[in-house]
Amino acid sequence: MKYLITGGAGYIGSHTVLELLNAGHECVVVDSLINSFDESLKRVETLTGKQVEFHQVDLLDKPALEAVFAKHTFDAVVHFAALKAVGESVAKPLTYYHNNITGTLVLCEVMKAAGCKNIVFSSSATVYGDPATVPITEDFPTGATNPYGRTKLFMEDILVDLHTADADWNVVLLRYFNPVGAHASGQIGEHPQGIPNNLTPYITQTAIGLREKLSVFGGDWPTPDGTGVRDYIHVVDLALGHLAALKKLTERPGVKIYNLGTGKGFSVLDMIKAFEKAIGKPVAYQIVDRRVGDVASVYATTDLAREELGWVATRGIDEMCEDAWRWQSMNPKGFEN
Ligand code: UD1
Repeated sequence: MKYLITGGAGYIGSHTVLELLNAGHECVVVDSLINSFDESLKRVETLTGKQVEFHQVDLLDKPALEAVFAKHTFDAVVHFAALKAVGESVAKPLTYYHNNITGTLVLCEVMKAAGCKNIVFSSSATVYGDPATVPITEDFPTGATNPYGRTKLFMEDILVDLHTADADWNVVLLRYFNPVGAHASGQIGEHPQGIPNNLTPYITQTAIGLREKLSVFGGDWPTPDGTGVRDYIHVVDLALGHLAALKKLTERPGVKIYNLGTGKGFSVLDMIKAFEKAIGKPVAYQIVDRRVGDVASVYATTDLAREELGWVATRGIDEMCEDAWRWQSMNPKGFEN
């Protein structure tokens, strides 16, 4: 099969491209590189021994996207390209709405004109807002708490509406929990711009000496040890979830929504301990006030993805931490080495 991967140079995108190539598929990547590095794709080519056709294209540039579709006939699109920093989205809502939502509209218009109506969309557990209970099933009420989350919800709705208007559209919405880790080779991984917002890059950057210490946001949450609980999922498991979703598209399923998580919750202190084991030394941390907008506990039910996609996450937190650390220690400055 031949797939277009938007945002394919990014963290989850590059891991997905690697798994698609290894499974014998052809990948064309469009990526604006405003938040990623094409070095990731060069490394994917080395790791797989296969070529990736790359176009530095922003989805807002419709003629450039049309030119890519004029050259190829795609079986489906995997749509990762979006801005993703919660705090930045609060400060720059127009940038987030324009980039994420208009970018998706342009993509869908070009897909429609080209007759490609199969899409896997990169959504997020952020669409569940502050869930009333855990674990979270796919039919939980949705509601976002910040502009970034709202763009994910709008993008989901746009794709569902497309299918309602034209049943030829097949849409798989993948709601990711917390992606961590890196490819086992240590060659590709997460490269956050500036000071990381997310937990695991902050831990690895602290361990390597780029940050002084980790601030643990809140020790008084209603959780077993008082720190926030999340469903951390290895990025390679997540990438493999996209292959399962693309396979599902061949059944012309209409609209499907799946949680991609492990179904297990780990606290911030659990993650620190697992990293200390992987790194072989203590991680400096301090418990501080809660972060505004955080929630106590978020983890998935994974039954639907297992039953309908035949997909389960198999990598545990020790492997996530070992792989994240290998990537960080082999590439202290990420792709900028
Ligand atoms: C965050 C976003 C979410 C987004 C996801 C993408 C917020 C509020 N939510 O999820 O919308 O989809 O990233 O990966 O930003 N923590 C610390 N110290 C840190 C960083 C995090 O203690 O320096 C804690 C948090 O309080 C939380 C856990 O670690 O309990 C995970 O945090 P993080 O990695 O930022 O992910 P989420 O907040 O779950």
